[in-house]
Amino acid sequence: MRDTTPRTAAGKVLWHFSMSLDGFVAGPGHRMDWMPAATNRPGLVEEYLQTTGAVLGGRDGWDAFPDARAVYGGAWSGPVFVLTHHPEDAEPADGVTFLSCDVADAVQIARSAAGGKNVEVLSPTIGRQLLARGLLDEMDLHVLPVLLGDGVRLYDAPGGSPVPLELDNGDPVEEINLRCRPVGQLSG
Ligand SMILES: NC(=O)c1ccc[n+]([C@@H]2O[C@H](COP(=O)([O-])OP(=O)(O)OC[C@H]3O[C@@H](n4cnc5c(N)ncnc54)[C@H](OP(=O)(O)O)[C@@H]3O)[C@@H](O)[C@H]2O)c1
Repeated sequence: MRDTTPRTAAGKVLWHFSMSLDGFVAGPGHRMDWMPAATNRPGLVEEYLQTTGAVLGGRDGWDAFPDARAVYGGAWSGPVFVLTHHPEDAEPADGVTFLSCDVADAVQIARSAAGGKNVEVLSPTIGRQLLARGLLDEMDLHVLPVLLGDGVRLYDAPGGSPVPLELDNGDPVEEINLRCRPVGQLSG
């Protein structure tokens, strides 16, 4: 299967995550040490630095990593929005706007701030809400050969209906074949 074509700054609303094979984007307690420090796709970070105009996240992710300068290892800078029911107890941070509003309004605010570039939704919870409202354009996922078994799922909707997707690289409906084997355990 082909890798994806380079991303363009097209005013899209995106999910962009590294994900475990079993569908988690963070381990328990927001554990992230299962992710490699760098991606193996040449130019990927540069692509996102150029095409990302704003970031929208949720309060749990912010509280776990309250540093707007950490996006793309500190290489990206731009407007960051954090959606929360209780903005009043958030510590103010440069470049960060705490929003308490409907998720559709939040994404519209982020879109306006993105100046025609893409809005990256760094939150499974918010992405799920946007997906349900037809407001998520694309998902860019990097699947890593690790099983987490617990943590924050990319898509957590117990009792929900299947959400059909089509692949943007290769045959839109082909299955993806992976072959892997266990190689011990992560420490900690
Ligand atoms: N693997 C990767 O590439 C990658 C990349 C980025 C992030 N992550 C991980 O993703 C995790 C964060 O995701 P998450 O989904 O668990 O948490 P989250 O989206 O960061 O936070 C969820 C919280 O956001 C607030 N919120 C969500 N929707 C809202 C709405 N409509 N209105 C008002 N407030 C709303 C609520 O907080 P309150 O009710 O408390 O206000 C909710 O409990 C972190 O562990 C982070 O490390 C992984």
